[in-house]
Amino acid sequence: MVRIPSNNSSLDQKIILITGAGDGIGKQAALTFAEMGATCILLGRTVSKLEATYDSIVQAGGLEPAIVPLDMNGATHKHYLDMNTTILSEYGRLDGCLHNASVLGNLCPFNEIKPEEWQEVLQVNLTASAFMTQALIPSLKAAEHASVVFTSSGVGRQGRAFWGTYAVSKFATEGMMQVLADEYKNAHIRFNCINPGATRTAMRAKAFPAEDVTTLKTPADIMPTYSFMMSDESIGINGQSINC
Ligand SMILES: NC(=O)c1ccc[n+]([C@@H]2O[C@H](COP(=O)([O-])OP(=O)(O)OC[C@H]3O[C@@H](n4cnc5c(N)ncnc54)[C@H](OP(=O)(O)O)[C@@H]3O)[C@@H](O)[C@H]2O)c1
Repeated sequence: MVRIPSNNSSLDQKIILITGAGDGIGKQAALTFAEMGATCILLGRTVSKLEATYDSIVQAGGLEPAIVPLDMNGATHKHYLDMNTTILSEYGRLDGCLHNASVLGNLCPFNEIKPEEWQEVLQVNLTASAFMTQALIPSLKAAEHASVVFTSSGVGRQGRAFWGTYAVSKFATEGMMQVLADEYKNAHIRFNCINPGATRTAMRAKAFPAEDVTTLKTPADIMPTYSFMMSDESIGINGQSINC
């Protein structure tokens, strides 16, 4: 079990890419990382939301972020390769990558899952982060130490009725993280998963519309785990599934 110290870790000089940085946990992660000194690369599909994150970072005195508008449902391998080239030419390296963007899909009995919905959920939650990671390896290798964090879920460790496609995408994400962690165990890139747990966001509200949201953690509450995993304090932690 990984114990997260109450941390004052610095993210000074870190270049960190965050997917789904326009809303929910990803937005809060970008604000927190920037507050801790990182330069953030904000990736997401809705430009106005990314611009709002950008504005909040700049207004708070953070380093100027970069915006990468990209729909991970339609993105190709070439988009990711181009992203790697741009990151290398602009920053020379990538110290951190938070794979956070995901879609829930419709919660329904397994035998009612529509092929097109299966395709979209697996594309956004799994395939896009797989090929983005593959393309970004040169930028990650250029960092002295790099941290790649995938986002899992409780249903990515224990299946649950009606959560079919989303649960499968998260199980596969955990497996992908373990494969990468093992392949790079002698390198200076570490791969881990965070399960944020029930957190007050649009996705949670879609899954549990009748829930009293005041009982839930906010994205800000879980940031100590995220910032610890991006900081040098987590060097040596590799292949772990961490609960917030
Ligand atoms: N909230 C929870 O209780 C909870 C629990 C367990 C795990 N998680 C995981 O935590 C992560 C963050 O979830 P959240 O609750 O913060 O969700 P959220 O509020 O719905 O935010 C999801 C983010 O992903 C982006 N996104 C979705 N589809 C995309 C696409 N095709 N291309 C690019 N970006 C896309 C969204 O962009 P737009 O805003 O532009 O749509 C949004 O910024 C997810 O991986 C989720 O599975 C959450």
